Amino acid sequence: MSQKTLKQLAAEKALTYIKKGELLGVGTGSTVDCLIALLPEVRHLIDVVVSSSERSTEQLIQLGFEVAPLTDIEKLTLYIDGADEINAQLQMIKGGGAALTREKIVAAHADQFICIADQSKYVETLGKFPLPVEVIPMAVGHVQRELNKLGEARVRSNVITDNGNPIIDVFGLNITEPLALETHINQIVGVVTNGIFAHRPADLLVLATDQGIETIKA
Ligand code: 5RP
Repeated sequence: MSQKTLKQLAAEKALTYIKKGELLGVGTGSTVDCLIALLPEVRHLIDVVVSSSERSTEQLIQLGFEVAPLTDIEKLTLYIDGADEINAQLQMIKGGGAALTREKIVAAHADQFICIADQSKYVETLGKFPLPVEVIPMAVGHVQRELNKLGEARVRSNVITDNGNPIIDVFGLNITEPLALETHINQIVGVVTNGIFAHRPADLLVLATDQGIETIKA
């Protein structure tokens, strides 16, 4: 099956987890795009929806959803988002779509985090996918020098996040200790956050494979 079909299947399965009265967080990316397109089917179940990016917000508004500002929300019952890589502990690399900071903030509000992904995202060790790091503009030089001690750090061209910041991608990592590396990179002055989601991993992975849908718990 094509990757696009698998993303669609993961999104369809995720829809079945949305229950009455849901306070729903919606992530960002092409897998989540499939989910957003399906959300009108369960509109009656959703009390509140928030989003992790301007892009997803725009799509939700187009479908007639009123998107709440996260500042109005104390907690979400469910957050559904994709990942660039995810391991058996359901720790992830995210931020390929440059929405990592808002995604991490929305995830921090959620009782349950469901990751939806196609089989190509499931890995033994995180790091083959370049690790995105969002950086305060005036700190780019400093942060890049620090990140170059870990791998090859490249400023992503022509990308500014919804928060107005550049992204540095770190290539060539082999992340054997995701918790420690997430903490370490976040301590570099000028880093807003990095794309390792280890301190707040997903609770459930809905993985679409050629053999069907697998659900994996941490
Ligand atoms: C955006 C993300 C996405 O979840 C991640 O990039 C996966 O995207 P896709 O569903 O397009 O493969 O973290 O910042």
